Amino acid sequence: MTERVVLAYSGGLDTSVAIPYLAERTGAEVVAVAVDVGQGGEDLEVIRKRALACGAVESEVVDARAEFAADFCLPALRANALYLNRYPLVSALSRPLIVRHLVAAARRHGGTIVAHGCTGKGNDQVRFEVGIGALAPDLTVVAPARDYAWTRDAAIAYAQRHDLPIDVTAKSPYSIDQNLWGRAVETGFLEDIWNAPIEDLYTYTADPAAPREPDELVVTFEAGAPVAVDGAPVSPLEAITILNRRAGAAGVGRIDLVEDRLVGIKSREVYEAPGALALITAHQELENVTVERDLARFKKTVDQRWGELVYDGLWFSPLKAALDGFIEQTQRYVSGDVRLVLHGGRAVVTGRRSEASLYDFGLATYDTGDSFDQSLAKGFVTLWGLPSKLSTARDARLAG
Ligand code: ARG
Repeated sequence: MTERVVLAYSGGLDTSVAIPYLAERTGAEVVAVAVDVGQGGEDLEVIRKRALACGAVESEVVDARAEFAADFCLPALRANALYLNRYPLVSALSRPLIVRHLVAAARRHGGTIVAHGCTGKGNDQVRFEVGIGALAPDLTVVAPARDYAWTRDAAIAYAQRHDLPIDVTAKSPYSIDQNLWGRAVETGFLEDIWNAPIEDLYTYTADPAAPREPDELVVTFEAGAPVAVDGAPVSPLEAITILNRRAGAAGVGRIDLVEDRLVGIKSREVYEAPGALALITAHQELENVTVERDLARFKKTVDQRWGELVYDGLWFSPLKAALDGFIEQTQRYVSGDVRLVLHGGRAVVTGRRSEASLYDFGLATYDTGDSFDQSLAKGFVTLWGLPSKLSTARDARLAG
């Protein structure tokens, strides 16, 4: 029986041309799988048919938006996941989900090879291949751009030579990856890191400097998950969609970042993630109100490590799974309402309330009604400072 290769298909020039090219190089039949992670753009049925027209023996489109929201974006929100404190892991989150669906398609269609369009310079090859290795170690992987030095120019020439039904002139100067959680844009003039981004780059966010009325909304969380916006119940997918629209209209969530890739390269990427950043801002503040101090401090280091693991392609690793368990435990009381004002590119929390609040008005107030016994503080402060006092006295004694 002829071997089958399952290709992670986007519908774009590179992966379209990869279909006949892979068939030629490997002698295998090509099964194209396009995964809808909320990237928008072209109709997916058009994309599905294009793969067939390019020579795929099977072509599938998987609507994974709700799954992406619930199983990938939501854990990232609970972890307040921001790589280098800025980047909400947009592409890094989608790869393990796509891997899941590639593996499932390989099983359904008798595939023995999986192919993806990543180059050998980025993080995404790592995420795809480490994920496939973890879920389906029997499958082999081929990456034409990397393994066959398959360039864009070669792809265009090949498409023309074979008269493939794709528009080779629709060439963007940028490399773009987008999904429900945000959008990443790189290459072109952005490779000079002194060049400022231009307004044209952005599609998820309006110009934050454009005059506009502030937008105010209330997000309700239950155990760290958004469950309502302005009192109307929402699924995770709906919450992210609504916040993308409203925060995006206020220009929230633009990020211009030079980041450390896993492969050792520093690269410049421009992101926009309005929903992700607005939700993380609200979620973080609700944690400030409901999570006990030491747990909250420790969680920050866990959150950071979680983000690094996901960035580095280790979604299916035991450490990531164990940290998930920790984070889950911390979210038990992260329930309540957060009021956000979206304006001028910023999402600002202006109010919070929760049944599980640890904020005690009686303890905090400087007005009448104060229930805090200040006389206890004097002894506490003395003992708290004792080790420092002893050691500085020792330093002075032994100096010179
Ligand atoms: N640098 C980001 C990451 O590694 C995004 C990668 C994809 N970006 C792109 N513009 N194609 O997660």
